[in-house]
Amino acid sequence: MAEQKYDYGMIGLGTMGRNLVFNINDHGYSVAGFDKDNSQVETLKKEAGDRKVFATSNLDEFVKSLKTPRVIILLVPAGKIVDEVINELKPLLSENDLLLDCGNSHFSDTDKRNEQLAKSTIHFMGVGVSGGESGARYGPSIMPGGPKNVYERVAPMLEAISAKVNGEPCVTWLGPGSAGHYVKMVHNGIEYGLMQLISEAYHLLKVIGGLNNDELNSIFFKWNEGKLHSYLIQITADIFAQKDELTNNRLIDMILDSAHQKGTGGWASEDAMKLQVPIPVIDTAVSMRDLSAYKKERKLLAINNKPLANNHIDKNELVNILEQALYFSTITTYTQGMSLLHFASIEYKYDLKLENIAKIWRGGCIIRASLLEDIYAAYSKQPDLSNLLLSEPFSQKLIQSQNGIRKVIQLGVEAAIPLPAMMSALAYYDSFRSGWLPANLIQAQRDYFGAHTYERTDKEGVFHTHWNQKTE
Ligand code: 6PG
Repeated sequence: MAEQKYDYGMIGLGTMGRNLVFNINDHGYSVAGFDKDNSQVETLKKEAGDRKVFATSNLDEFVKSLKTPRVIILLVPAGKIVDEVINELKPLLSENDLLLDCGNSHFSDTDKRNEQLAKSTIHFMGVGVSGGESGARYGPSIMPGGPKNVYERVAPMLEAISAKVNGEPCVTWLGPGSAGHYVKMVHNGIEYGLMQLISEAYHLLKVIGGLNNDELNSIFFKWNEGKLHSYLIQITADIFAQKDELTNNRLIDMILDSAHQKGTGGWASEDAMKLQVPIPVIDTAVSMRDLSAYKKERKLLAINNKPLANNHIDKNELVNILEQALYFSTITTYTQGMSLLHFASIEYKYDLKLENIAKIWRGGCIIRASLLEDIYAAYSKQPDLSNLLLSEPFSQKLIQSQNGIRKVIQLGVEAAIPLPAMMSALAYYDSFRSGWLPANLIQAQRDYFGAHTYERTDKEGVFHTHWNQKTE
């Protein structure tokens, strides 16, 4: 039995959980950990040494070891395990105890849990945490949603453990209910989009440019020192330099070209479809992960790996237009994610402050990038902006980089190198910049076959026509 009472409890002592325990403890708080798996408990004990950290696989002992009212962090796999843990915990808890679900739960599950726990005297918050293992250990970006007064109880601890940018913590209360998990879901959608775009740039550099891994390493390294500066560009540079321990090759060349996913990017797409908010770069990124898994079919259909057209493009020119293309499409991806947040905030009454979201994404999380400084500035100036394309500085950035992406896409098309996310980013931009789109024809077709009616350009109201069916 624990001799002292601990400030915080952590359920789930996998790498993320243990790292968060040490991060919290580094900031002067004592922590008790629980995991059903005794080997995880032993690992924490061993790693904790003489820190004020306690670990057990006995849930009753864990709960009793905590100061009341308790604050318990759940870092368990999203889904039914979260409900199982809550149900096991509930009879052991008392008034005003607080549960923080810090996993990647679907926001609708967080809504259900909020509803269920609202009937009890236990408080609940859905908290998005981003930054992977090292973020958890040394400073993640934290996206809390739930009752504001309840958040105040944990704000000092969350601020202490979060990443800092210019001395400011990468955490703030985002909104009620499932706001935190919704924002984390959109973060992951953007993450999917950016990863796909970077992979497309890699594809062109490798196949058209014929660049080797050392060259790729130095190009990404250089890009990371410019306007593309971001965590994902930085780790991409590192990846090209990594040697394989089993062969003499670079590790990247030994990794199967078939991507996995837990699905959070797809959740963003699903909800965007439901809310009718276009986020095509993110949708495309999800589809491309799916498509990459069809390795067997791809091998059967494969042309050779050589480009179809013999493109003699100067390497420096290729790197230059790709930097512009990546910048353009990166902006477009954030634009789509932020726009989804704007409309979801209205639909779900989150009252999100997009300025704050850009601010806490500047550090700690996977999509941290210097571009977020500009996004933060844009929303600080125009908090209700429905789309970043409408912000003058962003409109200028896109005008300046659009030539690059147009050239890159041409190259890809001629060489049969798929660049679906880049194409989708450009099509999104060109569509939003089209005062006229051919959707009048879609309206006419709907009315023709289904009497769905249409609106006119010259009169208010809805209209239906008995179309002359001459083309049968
Ligand atoms: C983060 C990451 C993290 C995790 C994703 C991976 O913000 O720290 O997004 O949450 O790496 O869940 O997602 P996929 O398995 O779907 O790629």
